[in-house]
Amino acid sequence: MTDVAARVQELLPSVRADLEELVRIESVWADPARRPEVHRSAELTSKLLSQAGFGDIRTVSAGGAPAVIARHPAPEGAPTVLLYAHHDVQPEGDSAQWHSPPFEPTERDGRLYGRGTADDKAGIATHLAAFRAFDGNPPVGITVFVEGEEESGSPSLPALLDAHRDLLAADVIIIADSDNWGVDIPALTVSLRGLADCVVEVATLDHGLHSGLWGGVVPDALSALVRVLASLHDDDGNVAVEGLHEATAAEVEFPDERVRADSGLLDGVRQIGSGPVVQRMWARPAITVIGIDTTPTALASNTLVPSARAKVSMRVAPGGDAREHLAALTRHLEAHAPWGARVTVTPGDVGQPYAIDATGPVYDAARQAFQIAWGREPIDMGMGGSIPFIAEFAAAFPDAKILVTGVEDPGTQAHSINESLHLGVLERAATSEALFLQALGNDSDR
Ligand code: BES
Ligand code: MN
Ligand code: MN
Repeated sequence: MTDVAARVQELLPSVRADLEELVRIESVWADPARRPEVHRSAELTSKLLSQAGFGDIRTVSAGGAPAVIARHPAPEGAPTVLLYAHHDVQPEGDSAQWHSPPFEPTERDGRLYGRGTADDKAGIATHLAAFRAFDGNPPVGITVFVEGEEESGSPSLPALLDAHRDLLAADVIIIADSDNWGVDIPALTVSLRGLADCVVEVATLDHGLHSGLWGGVVPDALSALVRVLASLHDDDGNVAVEGLHEATAAEVEFPDERVRADSGLLDGVRQIGSGPVVQRMWARPAITVIGIDTTPTALASNTLVPSARAKVSMRVAPGGDAREHLAALTRHLEAHAPWGARVTVTPGDVGQPYAIDATGPVYDAARQAFQIAWGREPIDMGMGGSIPFIAEFAAAFPDAKILVTGVEDPGTQAHSINESLHLGVLERAATSEALFLQALGNDSDR
C-alpha cells in the first residue's frame, strides 16, 4: 500500500465522523423552512475545513445559499486544484419509507444510510480526507468550493463565480458528485446531460361544472392535460418533440438485466425508447412528468376540473442547448392541446449539458491514481443526470482540466428513499483523489 493510501485509511474513521455530523443537518435549500439548516451546514463545513488545516476560509453568497471557499496556497511552481462538492441535499421524501431516520446516519452492511450520505456530503468527506492525507503540506495548491444550492439548479452560481473569480481560479477542477460503475469499479464521468423544465397549465373552463350536467359536451382540463402530456412520447416511449439534439454515447455495454436490477423496474414493465441503453440514458433527450396539480382523489367530486398543471422535466443531450430545448418543448406543448384548450407554459430551470475531452497527461495521471486505489482503471461513462455548474465553470476557466469523479454507486439511491454511501467507495474515492493530487504535485509541468 502507498503511504498516501495508508494515511487515508488511518484518517477514515474521523472523516466518517465528520460526514455523520454533516448528515445530521437537514440542509434542504429547496424547503424554505429549512434554509437556516443550510446556513448551519455551511458553518459546519467551514469548521471542518479549518480543523483540516485550511488557513483561508470564507463563507460567501450572492443572494442565494451560502457557499464555502477554503484555500491552501500552491507551493512554488505547483498547480492549483479546485475541489468541488455541495452541502445541500434533496428533500427526504416519505420518511415512513426509510428503514432508518433520513437524517440519522446509520450503518448497515458496509453502507452508511441517510439523506446526503452520498449526494453530496460524501464529496465533502472525500476532499477532507484527501487534503488531510498530506498533513498540512499538500504538493499542490488546493481550493475547496462547497456550494449550497446545487439541488436547486445553482441559480446564483454565475454571480458567485463572477464575484470570486480570483479565489476560484484553478488549473484542475475535481467535481466529486457523480457515480461509479460499481462498488469495485471506478468511473470517470465524461459527459452529463443538461436540464430544462417548465410548468404547463391547461384550462378549459373558468369554473368547475357538474360533471353529469355537462360531461360529454364540454372538456375537463385534466383530460386535456393528460392528452398534451401523452403527446410527448410515441407509443414505444421515444421522445416525440421535434428539433432536439442527439449525441453519441461512450461505447459501454449496459445489459438489460442491469437496468432491471439497478432501477427496480417491476416485473412485466418494459423499458422505453429504442436503441442501446447508454444511448438513451446519456446521449438522448428524455422527458418526464414530475408533478401534477389537480384535485386529489380523496377530494374528487363529480365536477369537471376547470384547469390543471403539470411540471415537465427534460434532459438535454451533450452538445444541445438547454434554452433552445426549452423553447422546442414549449412549442410542442402549445401545439398539442386538444379541443382548443388553453395552454400556458411557464419556463423553469435551465442547465447546460457538458462533455469532457478526457485525454492528455492530467487525465492519464487520474487514471493511474484510480488504478492504484481501486486495482483497476476507471470506466469512461456518461451520466444521465446533470451538474449544470460544470458548464459555467468551464466557461469561466476555459483552460482548466475538469474531472468528474464519483462517490455514488449503483446502490446509492440518490434523491430517493434510503440513500446510502458504500464505505469502501468512500475510502477508494478519497485514496484516488489524494494519489492524484500527489501525482499533480510530482509533475508540475502538466
Ligand atoms: N449528483 C447529482 C448529479 C448526478 C446524478 C450524478 C446521478 C451522478 C448520478 C446532482 O446532485 C443532481 O442531482 N443534479 C440535479 C441537477 C438539477 C437540480 C439542476 C439533477 O441531475 O437533477
Ligand atoms: Mn450531487
Ligand atoms: Mn443530487
